[in-house]
Amino acid sequence: MSPRKIIIDTDPGQDDAVAILLALASPEEIDLLSITCVAGNVPLELTARNARMVCELAGRTDVKVFAGCDRPMGRDLVTAEHVHGKTGLDGPTLPDPQMPLQDGHAVEFLVETLRQEPARSVTLVPIGPLTNIATAFRKAPEVIERVQEIVLMGGAYFQVGNVTPAAEFNIYVDPQAADIVFSSGVPLTVMPLDVTHQVLVTGPRNGAIRAIGTPVAKAVAEMTAFFERYDREKYGSDGAPLHDPCTIAYLIQPDLFSGRYVNVEIETTSELTLGMTVADWWGVSDRAPNATFMGSADADGFFSLLTERLSRL
Ligand code: BDR
Ligand code: CA
Repeated sequence: MSPRKIIIDTDPGQDDAVAILLALASPEEIDLLSITCVAGNVPLELTARNARMVCELAGRTDVKVFAGCDRPMGRDLVTAEHVHGKTGLDGPTLPDPQMPLQDGHAVEFLVETLRQEPARSVTLVPIGPLTNIATAFRKAPEVIERVQEIVLMGGAYFQVGNVTPAAEFNIYVDPQAADIVFSSGVPLTVMPLDVTHQVLVTGPRNGAIRAIGTPVAKAVAEMTAFFERYDREKYGSDGAPLHDPCTIAYLIQPDLFSGRYVNVEIETTSELTLGMTVADWWGVSDRAPNATFMGSADADGFFSLLTERLSRL
């Protein structure tokens, strides 16, 4: 089978960085058309910088990186330096990027690519707030039906929230954008906190990555070591959840995850529960299913895949 064409839409973020590296290490399964950056974990200027630093770390200065929206559609930007550090990519010491950003806005690139590529041949992989994707859908609604699938990290049902008691960060930052994407009709596969909180970089898993001994592996071990201090303190968990790489792992090896095809709607107005992903896991409403919402992950399988792939870079 030929590799699947994808665009990663991202706000790096240590876990975003690992997702990008996993994609770059998997050319048999994944043809990365480009990386589009959005404001999220840190402001746009930094996410666009971090994405290029990660490509350079992997020796892939040929990857096209675009900058996109610098704020959510209808509200002020909320960032997460408390999790990811001041740069968004705290942990390793990486050189400033030399590769340029592509000319043009990420949203224009998304629209043009979806127009030019054969219908339903491109999968979007958003691992930050959904602002770029929703803006593209608003601007050019005719491209919506040309998307093959959206595989995203965001939301929660059983784990409820990580940035408010009711909401996960990516959805909370831009609930209006999330609502546009979840009601778009594009086939959606969702990696919520319910699965990403099962995929923890424990000490031995971090050690196995570090033991690969390459500059990429060392940087990943340092990133996850930084990132995990927050989750250890907050949840008392065994290590950092590798949220965003779940999307890429799913594209490479879908049987690592299982879930339910259910209705998922986004709370866009309530002050108390803004950004909540209301997933009808138990099928108690008559609302039509619109998303495969994952509920469990094979964490050991995930880490053996990740470790093996990182050793290729
Ligand atoms: C999500 O928020 C960000 O902090 C992470 O990169 C991930 O995409 C987890 O809630
Ligand atoms: Ca992210």
